[in-house]
Amino acid sequence: METIARGLAGVVAVATRISHVDGERGTLTLGGFPVEEIAPRASYEEVLHLLWHGRLPSATETEDLRHRLATRRWLPAGTITLLHAAAARRLPTMDALRMAVDTLQLDGAPARGGDPASNLSGAIDIVARVPTIVATYERLREGKSPVAPDARLGHAANYLFMLRGEPAPVEIVRALETYLVTVIDHGLSASTFAARVVVSTRSDMLSAIVGALGAFKGPLHGGAPGPALEMVFRIRERAARSGRPLDAEARAWTQEALASGERMMGFGHRVYAVRDPRAEVLAAAAARLFERGGDPSLYAAARIVEAAILDVLRDRKPGRRIETNVEFYTALLLHGVGLEPELFTPTFAVSRVGGWAAHVLEQIVEDTLLRPMSTYVGELHDRYVPAEVRM
Ligand SMILES: CC(C)(COP(=O)(O)OP(=O)(O)OC[C@H]1O[C@@H](n2cnc3c(N)ncnc32)[C@H](O)[C@@H]1OP(=O)(O)O)[C@@H](O)C(=O)NCCC(=O)NCCS
Repeated sequence: METIARGLAGVVAVATRISHVDGERGTLTLGGFPVEEIAPRASYEEVLHLLWHGRLPSATETEDLRHRLATRRWLPAGTITLLHAAAARRLPTMDALRMAVDTLQLDGAPARGGDPASNLSGAIDIVARVPTIVATYERLREGKSPVAPDARLGHAANYLFMLRGEPAPVEIVRALETYLVTVIDHGLSASTFAARVVVSTRSDMLSAIVGALGAFKGPLHGGAPGPALEMVFRIRERAARSGRPLDAEARAWTQEALASGERMMGFGHRVYAVRDPRAEVLAAAAARLFERGGDPSLYAAARIVEAAILDVLRDRKPGRRIETNVEFYTALLLHGVGLEPELFTPTFAVSRVGGWAAHVLEQIVEDTLLRPMSTYVGELHDRYVPAEVRM
């Protein structure tokens, strides 16, 4: 039997200029820049340009991309109808988002790949509209009227504006923008691979993004930050009730969770054997945010809980090298930005769609069908047996 790379672990399937993850050293570069250098400083639009064109834009190019995104944020009427129907059924936001992205084709936007300019235009269309879908759906779920996009605002500020119905303070916008840049791309993650597989058949950008969203929403990928935050809150509550120190309560919690076979959300990663560098960037952004307002004790509590969980994991899973991943501090930062846990994964998608689009554009140029092999392990039969005589 052939050797199977279970879960494709360790398999290098594509060459890319978009991002690089070094799991041993714990580094991430986005378009060649260390994540900790670019994420707290650049705008989401600048990084889109970097990933789509391979270099940071000039001021005019940034303005041009901002303008193109801002003028394409509106949703087709059919998409809004679908979002109303999904809200009436209280469907999870990620499901509504996946279905709504599919409907973007309704306004005649070309689905099939073509020349580079129309592929780029398709990318702009989708990236511009994902925040509008998420914000519209969130407001409908809450029984509020959707807020129209404001073309004067940048990508991050406009997303918050559509959610809140009023402009967000500048430090909140910067915190969200840091998050959006930090998680925009991450090598060949499962969703990115899914997007590349779809478009490698010479399918189209829209289908690739829908496929990526399907892969993305699972709890082993984009779905972990909500539960991670809930865990910090619950450990804190338990400590308040029991009177035990938070550290002891977090240790007890982790022991119990592991004993019942649960995984600690926000810990562990397929590629990183050390602390996820994005966790560091987001922890620093969260610390800055909580210093200026909100609940600084939550940040301190998260640090204590993190240290306790890591300690118990090292003890209970020796040799596994399970460290903090991006989701743990995502939860804290997005909570500080004022988002509800239901919005954590969709907001991750608001960012990651830019990376998916970059990979789709790269894969279109690469033009190689992604098609691995399988090994058959089932039974073999010589003859077809008619149903009447089958046992
Ligand atoms: C992300 C993740 C799926 C990567 O896992 P992976 O590389 O496929 O590793 P495996 O699932 O093969 O797990 C390897 C071992 O580590 C353990 N492990 C991995 N992550 C763990 C976690 N968060 N909590 C407890 N144990 C964990 C597994 O139980 C397994 O131990 P075992 O062999 O003793 O049963 C995994 O770490 C996980 O489930 N994390 C929690 C969810 C999460 O935070 N997801 C967001 C990722 S950015």
